[in-house]
Amino acid sequence: MTLQQKIELTPFNTLALPGTAACYQKITTSAQLTASELLATKRFILGGGSNLVLNGDFSGLILHMAIPGKRLLNEDADAWYIEAGAGENWHDFVQWTLRQGWPGLENLSLIPGTVGAAPIQNIGAYGLEVAERFHSLTAWDFEKRAFLTVDRSICQFAYRDSLFKQQNWHLSGRMAITSVIFRLPKIWIANYRYADVAQALAAQSITTPTPQQIASAIITIRQHKLPDPAITPNAGSFFHNPLVDHKLAEKLAADYPALPRYPQADGRVKLAAGWLIEQAGWKGKSLGPVGMYEKQALVLVNHGGATGADVRRTMAAVQADVKAHFGIALTPEPIFL
Ligand code: EPU
Repeated sequence: MTLQQKIELTPFNTLALPGTAACYQKITTSAQLTASELLATKRFILGGGSNLVLNGDFSGLILHMAIPGKRLLNEDADAWYIEAGAGENWHDFVQWTLRQGWPGLENLSLIPGTVGAAPIQNIGAYGLEVAERFHSLTAWDFEKRAFLTVDRSICQFAYRDSLFKQQNWHLSGRMAITSVIFRLPKIWIANYRYADVAQALAAQSITTPTPQQIASAIITIRQHKLPDPAITPNAGSFFHNPLVDHKLAEKLAADYPALPRYPQADGRVKLAAGWLIEQAGWKGKSLGPVGMYEKQALVLVNHGGATGADVRRTMAAVQADVKAHFGIALTPEPIFL
């Protein structure tokens, strides 16, 4: 295996930030991961690059996960078990499952990124997190030099979080996820509680939606609200929605009755970061080439020619203004490399 040298990374991150990788290898089979040439001290495992802020040149080895494949692995009386390679495009995979007649992932339509990245930050949208459909995954462990199977009981899935993210296992290059198995229950229950989805279906007079109709509604909502990275580079929601204790939520609601609040099972309350950012005056506002999107203030966009430093500057300014207005510290969602 001959590693490529000094590869331009701009096409590999959806914020289109500049930077090079000293070494680069595209991985299209699991077996390639066992090569001794990949035992560099500094490694980074790259998926779709849709949750990444590049801080310039990377002096280590980038492993670009592109393992393909998707198949029905197994089925029992209760569920279908679908396996997909880590490099499969997430949205294409979801649409393929729907075409095969295996519903359950439709609420996660049009999320950018790859199958292998989905469990790391437990992607979620419109009332569903991937954890609810996750069965297990296979990963190559560079320290143990072995393939491991990891089932959901040890993944510690939480809101945009998992063991892989907490331990930085995947992103530090310790583990490379090669494939993921999803469990899709045969009893399908339509999930359109989320207000935007319910309204979109009601507007079409759909009262008992099919999985495809839910997918279509979500695709339309996302296309309307979220910028297409191919046109306006971005990394989706840039901050987590903050989780605060209910006393603070009540205090804020007394001052700001319109504040969206989502009570959680653990007693905490999730607030809408997009609302806080808009109220702090950042919706459609930029600092240099980086701003917050005009239709969804939670999405940070590169208006052209931005660097990682520009992103950090806008991020810090938004965080400072939200903190000054509401006393809330916003945490970024992407990984900084
Ligand atoms: N809002 C505003 N102004 C804005 C944006 C939002 O007032 O500029 C308000 C909305 O009116 C609404 C509330 O904030 O009352 C929530 O907004 P929205 O429904 O757009 O969802 P979100 O909380 O901003 C989250 C996820 C998205 C996911 C959507 C739909 C996070 C960090 N983001 O956004 O995920 O698609 O819900 O489920 O949890 C992502 O993680 O990259 C992502 C796009």
